Amino acid sequence: MTINPKEVSQGTLHNYLLSAVAPRPIAFASTIDTLGNVNLSPFSFFNVFSSNPPVMIFSPAYRGRDGSSKHTLDNILAVPECTISMVNYPIVEQMSLTSTEYDQGVNEFVKAGLTQMPSETVKPPFVGESPVAFECAVTEVIPLNREKGGGSGNLVICEVKRIHIQEKYLDEKGHLDTTKMDLVGRMGGVWYNRTQPSALFEIPKPLRTKGIGVDQLPEFIRNSSILTGNNLGRLGNIEQLPNMEAVAAMKQEKAVMAILTSDKDLLAKEKDLHLLAKSHLEDGNLEKALKILLIR
Ligand SMILES: Cc1cc2nc3c(=O)[nH]c(=O)nc-3n(C[C@H](O)[C@H](O)[C@H](O)COP(=O)(O)O)c2cc1C
Repeated sequence: MTINPKEVSQGTLHNYLLSAVAPRPIAFASTIDTLGNVNLSPFSFFNVFSSNPPVMIFSPAYRGRDGSSKHTLDNILAVPECTISMVNYPIVEQMSLTSTEYDQGVNEFVKAGLTQMPSETVKPPFVGESPVAFECAVTEVIPLNREKGGGSGNLVICEVKRIHIQEKYLDEKGHLDTTKMDLVGRMGGVWYNRTQPSALFEIPKPLRTKGIGVDQLPEFIRNSSILTGNNLGRLGNIEQLPNMEAVAAMKQEKAVMAILTSDKDLLAKEKDLHLLAKSHLEDGNLEKALKILLIR
């Protein structure tokens, strides 16, 4: 199925976009109006785009319903400052409550029962319960559609001036501990995701090495019925294929020998070797996995 955005309704398009581009981090943005009234609202059209200088962008859109602007945007155009607090699982329901369309001047910190922590460099407070919060100067607001149609976004470009971290979310090296924060993301519809340890996994960074790539793996490995795309992706990280002596030496390994000396036919043996290699690969032992795969 292929969609031309111009041929579907704005609502349908919105649903496809938000379900497909997910999970999205959530900026819990606090702003103030010229009278000093505090506002707090969540925005998942959000990310960090630079660390030098530290820049984040989020996008309050004109309302799909009537094209009206959100208080957050009005406030930022009047007072170009905000705080962005990160949302984790312990405050997800309170965050959701703040997305209610309260009247101008209503303080959603109060409505949601969240703590207003005073900022050092900007007037809006940040969320005391958040694991990490940023004080930001708004450097630019870029409307994505000057017609102000419902659903059109406004990029709020924010330069980070201070970062507040709850120390219980640091590890022993002083780094933010992803396994402790349980940050939440927004998916399509009413779905969210959390990041508790059971949902987290690590992939070694290939930045320092130059892997040969999947295209340089022998065809019988690329066409294996056992190995997945993820397995091939990991194998492609190897800098060079092991030499034939190393492959031959692998035949002496107990588990490999058991497969080679079994009375199964050649195809079944190859399948068992691939299964063994796959398990080593999934344990992070790339070199060993490749040596086993190269046994002919
Ligand atoms: C998790 C979540 C993410 C949201 N992301 C956005 C967004 O990126 N852009 C947007 O315009 N509205 C977004 N909304 C809706 C706004 O939070 C909502 O319209 C809010 O009432 C705006 O408040 P304000 O008028 O006080 O600024 C989101 C709502 C939730 C619950």
